[in-house]
Amino acid sequence: MKNHEDKIDLLAIDDFQKNLPDLIDWALRIKNGEGLVDEFKPLEGMSIGSIYEKPSTRTRVSFEVGVSKLGGQPVTLLSNDIQLGKSESIADTAAVLSRFLDGITYRCFKHQDVVELAKHSKIPVINALSDLHHPCQAAADLMTITEHKKKVNGHISWVGDGNNVFHDLLLASVSMGHDVSYATPVGFEPNSEILIRAKKIADETGAKVIGTNDPIEAVTDAGVIYTDIFVSMGEEHIKDKFQSFDGFQINNDLVSYADQDYLFMHCLPAHRGEEVTDTVIDSKNSVVFDQAENRMWAQMSLLTYMCNENAWHSFNELY
Ligand code: CP
Ligand code: NVA
Repeated sequence: MKNHEDKIDLLAIDDFQKNLPDLIDWALRIKNGEGLVDEFKPLEGMSIGSIYEKPSTRTRVSFEVGVSKLGGQPVTLLSNDIQLGKSESIADTAAVLSRFLDGITYRCFKHQDVVELAKHSKIPVINALSDLHHPCQAAADLMTITEHKKKVNGHISWVGDGNNVFHDLLLASVSMGHDVSYATPVGFEPNSEILIRAKKIADETGAKVIGTNDPIEAVTDAGVIYTDIFVSMGEEHIKDKFQSFDGFQINNDLVSYADQDYLFMHCLPAHRGEEVTDTVIDSKNSVVFDQAENRMWAQMSLLTYMCNENAWHSFNELY
């Protein structure tokens, strides 16, 4: 690890509350000058491990390709193939991986597990999705909003489950000064401790946070409409959860209340015909595949900042 006095971890996006705008700006510049990646190899000689306890398409590919583009070696560790969760503790796994690797990303069920891994690891740890947070998604999402709209015409609206993706979207949006209005069914509101954190940040930036159980109220005059699957990975056992989301589908009727140039966003994978119709996700307002691509550029910024801070700053100065 180079430069930071102590290793830094990214467990939730508010860990990087203050420097999020700069991290996003860096990601946009490396994306737009892609040729530069041929010369810029800040992770040369480094290996970044990625542990997955749940399936992934975007996170896995974006980390593997992004690490390679930066000159590093990606090491993917699927939970079925490693000792973690069978005969080895998180603490011992962290100690061992710290002897080989220069950074770890971890997709886990319980958020406490990534906290534990970070506590026992001597190298930076990135949360690649837990039941409470998805910081890499939020970094890519705010990058996508910045890329498409210099100024968002209206608030960011969330309709659906008050889940991991929403928690970090909310924290990141208020950190960047965006107003957020969210609608969830009764009983599926966001985590109350995370809401308190978000409202504290909103007080600092002047952003407003409004919660409701009415999707029409949340999307009226919105500049961004965001949703996610109603039943997340690991929640399949929650009986009848899906039925609670009647009336929460993003369809032509609901989006007619938003600003006409609204952006439609979804972290993907989408369950078409459930939380969103084809008419919306395939419309000109939809930026879902830009979000997917931006996972890679945003994570390249995060990894370079966390594993080689000097190189992150020198790129900033050079380009
Ligand atoms: N959005 C997201 O994290 O996708 P994957 O589950 O495919 O990684
Ligand atoms: N909320 C979803 C996001 C998937 C990328 C889940 O946790 O399954």
